[in-house]
Amino acid sequence: MSEQQSSQSKRTVAEWISDVVAKDDGEYISNCYDKWAKTYDADNTAVNFKGPKLGLQFLEKYAGKNDTILDCGSGTGLLGELTKPAGFTNIHAVDCSQASLDIAGSRGAYSKLIKAFITNNVPELKTDTYDTLITISCFAPNHFKPDVVNEMCRVVKPGGHVILLINTIWLSEWVYKDGKLGEAFEQLVQDGRWTRVEKHLEENFYRTDTGVVHVFRIN
Ligand SMILES: C[S@@+](CC[C@H](N)C(=O)[O-])C[C@H]1O[C@@H](n2cnc3c(N)ncnc32)[C@H](O)[C@@H]1O
Repeated sequence: MSEQQSSQSKRTVAEWISDVVAKDDGEYISNCYDKWAKTYDADNTAVNFKGPKLGLQFLEKYAGKNDTILDCGSGTGLLGELTKPAGFTNIHAVDCSQASLDIAGSRGAYSKLIKAFITNNVPELKTDTYDTLITISCFAPNHFKPDVVNEMCRVVKPGGHVILLINTIWLSEWVYKDGKLGEAFEQLVQDGRWTRVEKHLEENFYRTDTGVVHVFRIN
C-alpha cells in the first residue's frame, strides 16, 4: 500500500482532494464530502494530518474548558475526538456535509450540530454567540471564500478568539492568490474588527506541506 493509499478506500487521498476542490458549487462540495466521510478519518490519519492535534493545542491556549466554541467546517469531528477527553464541554460543529456531521455527532463530543453552508451570511449562526471559533483546513479552493472572515467576526463575542489553521499550499490558488486572503484578514485589522494575536508556521502539517495558524481577538 502506498503512503497515500487509504487502508479502507481504493481511492488515494490525492484523488479525494482533487475532487473536493474541483468546483465552486456548494451542493457538489457537500456531496463529495458525504461520499468521502466514511473513510475520511482513516485517510487523513494515514497521511499524518496534524490539524486536529494542533487545533487542540491552540484551544488549550486560548479557550476555557466550558467556553462556547464553534468548530467551523468540523467535517467528521476529528477535533472533537481530541477535545472530549481534554475536557471541553460546549463545542458546536457546523458543516455543509450531513454524512460528516453524522460521524461528528456519533463521537459525543459536540453539544450542537449545525448543517449550514458557510458564506458571508449564515442565518443558522447567531451574532455574538461564541467565545472561540476554530477552523481547520477549510480555506481551500472552492471551500471558504475570503469574506467568511466577516461572519466569523459577527458570531464571536468581543474579546473572543478566532483561530484559523490553513494549508499554505492553497494560498497561491483560487481567489486567495496574490495575497488576497491575507488582505481580507488585514482589512478587518484596519477596520478595527479584530486584532492580530499570533501567527505560527507548522512544518509537515499535511504530509510535507506547511500549515499556518492565525489567531485574532475580536474587538
Ligand atoms: C478538509 S475538510 C476539514 C474538516 C475538519 N476541519 C478536519 O480538520 O478534518 C473541509 C470541511 O469543510 C466543509 N466545507 C467546505 N466548504 C464549506 C462551506 N462553504 N460551508 C460549510 N462547510 C464547508 C466540508 O464539508 C469538509 O467537511
